[in-house]
Amino acid sequence: MNVEIEVLTGDASWPSVKPLFDRVWPPNAGEQRPGDSIEYAPAELRVIVQADDQPVCHVGICRREGIWKGRKTRIGGIGGVGTDPDFRRRGFASVALNAALQTLKDERATDFALLFCRPHNVDFYTSRGWKPFTGEVYAEQHGERIRFDALLPMVSYLKRAPHEGEIDLCGLPW
Ligand SMILES: CC(C)(COP(=O)(O)OP(=O)(O)OC[C@H]1O[C@@H](n2cnc3c(N)ncnc32)[C@H](O)[C@@H]1OP(=O)(O)O)[C@@H](O)C(=O)NCCC(=O)NCCS
Repeated sequence: MNVEIEVLTGDASWPSVKPLFDRVWPPNAGEQRPGDSIEYAPAELRVIVQADDQPVCHVGICRREGIWKGRKTRIGGIGGVGTDPDFRRRGFASVALNAALQTLKDERATDFALLFCRPHNVDFYTSRGWKPFTGEVYAEQHGERIRFDALLPMVSYLKRAPHEGEIDLCGLPW
């Protein structure tokens, strides 16, 4: 199997990863990302792992200027983490997450990375170095600023190490 990793522009690469999204989050399944009630920001960049030229794993990146403890902060949003069910437990999501963090590090403009997950995935991220953010997160949903507590926030420290306080995403979550 020939495996390659690439980082592509979010909009342009969407058609190539849409079938993968449908396999990871099948429409009308209990756990789904497209179509659930949360309104997400689109990915600006996508880390895509290709196996024999087929996308099998995806991690989205959304850069955002938000606010943490009253100060402007540059957040590297990570979202849409998913691996094709037939290609799991081969390290693809771990590699793609590392590539996403490396992309943010290389840009030298991100204070910390932030993702949101469901409770059953917390252990997956903590065992890869992510830390729970125990403060409050505010975000836009359906045109209003709300406390965003539908998912659990996890952070990966870069220049700053936030673990509590208030984060305002100043826009949609990812
Ligand atoms: C979670 C997910 C992305 C992992 O993808 P993957 O490519 O299999 O991940 P990796 O191969 O890098 O890591 C797999 C390891 O994580 C473990 N793991 C997977 N899901 C886990 C979870 N929910 N909690 C704890 N560990 C988990 C596996 O047991 C495996 O452990 P091992 O290496 O000891 O065998 C994949 O299972 C998936 O797409 N799930 C559905 C979508 C989803 O929930 N995405 C996360 C959104 S926040």
